Amino acid sequence: MTSTVLVFLDPAHPDGRVEDASKPQLFVTDLGATRGDGVFETLLVMDGHVRKLPAHLRRLASSARLLELDVPEHEAWERAVVTALDEYQREVGPLQEVVVRLVATRGVEGAHAPTCWVSASAPHPNAKRQREHGIDVILLERGYDSAIGERAPWLLLGAKTLSYAVNMAALRYAHGQGADDVIFTSSDGKVLEGPTSTVLVAHAETDDAGRVTAKRLVTPQLDSGILPGTSQGALFAAAKEAGWELGYGPLEPEDLFDADAVWLISSVRLLTPVNRLDGKAIGADPELVRALTAELAVLFDRIA
Ligand SMILES: Cc1ncc(COP(=O)(O)O)c(C=O)c1O
Repeated sequence: MTSTVLVFLDPAHPDGRVEDASKPQLFVTDLGATRGDGVFETLLVMDGHVRKLPAHLRRLASSARLLELDVPEHEAWERAVVTALDEYQREVGPLQEVVVRLVATRGVEGAHAPTCWVSASAPHPNAKRQREHGIDVILLERGYDSAIGERAPWLLLGAKTLSYAVNMAALRYAHGQGADDVIFTSSDGKVLEGPTSTVLVAHAETDDAGRVTAKRLVTPQLDSGILPGTSQGALFAAAKEAGWELGYGPLEPEDLFDADAVWLISSVRLLTPVNRLDGKAIGADPELVRALTAELAVLFDRIA
């Protein structure tokens, strides 16, 4: 047994079929493997609680709709997640921090049935370090304009598909430049998203005594060919309750350089401050960056 737990969704096993992740399990003709044709979700379990499961299941269903892919009902995924976490607890250890992945491929060529599984494993140790210390990011062109999502739905820009080779290549390119991560821009100069995260920008107004009097949290327009983040959605709802003003782009690189703080956020990496963008420091006041990050991190921690 490896430290990864694997549960296939299988009509003959209502709670999921547990298999050994250290053994070969996929057919070489599975269209997920040969064409990256499928959808996935990555979510985090913290202290035994699966964070934002309904939002992830809704996005899995909407990604599948965009691909015209027939995937099992929410309840089948929920039961497989429970089985995977029971197994993880028995075989690997406590559910302090566990990454759960839901995957649905178009299945074996000619079979006309999706291949679906849930896996559970430990998070990458980098995520915690980056969250605590911040990251250096570079801007990279994605090559599309920000309206292409509407005009060309076959590009599947709003779906979380298995075709992440370009996103991974962008991250390797950034690492080669000495940076940790990427923010994509559109051909019309708009800020889009990270390869595996959503961009958040904060502006704060302060009075003469340096007290924060107003806070505004902005993210790129959701219809600009980006994946709507479940973390961004949940944090916006919590921030609104806590008195933040909210905004949805359009954002340009200058808006990031002028911001009081910029973060990349996702379900697994959580809220990660951007220290430098293209080599320039972000946020003129490091104390303010720390205070805003701490405030939003508390709100994000509380999200179910
Ligand atoms: C391209 C992209 N954008 C945004 C996100 C953030 O989504 P979430 O907050 O739901 O994890 C992800 C997550 O993996 C992603 O791959």
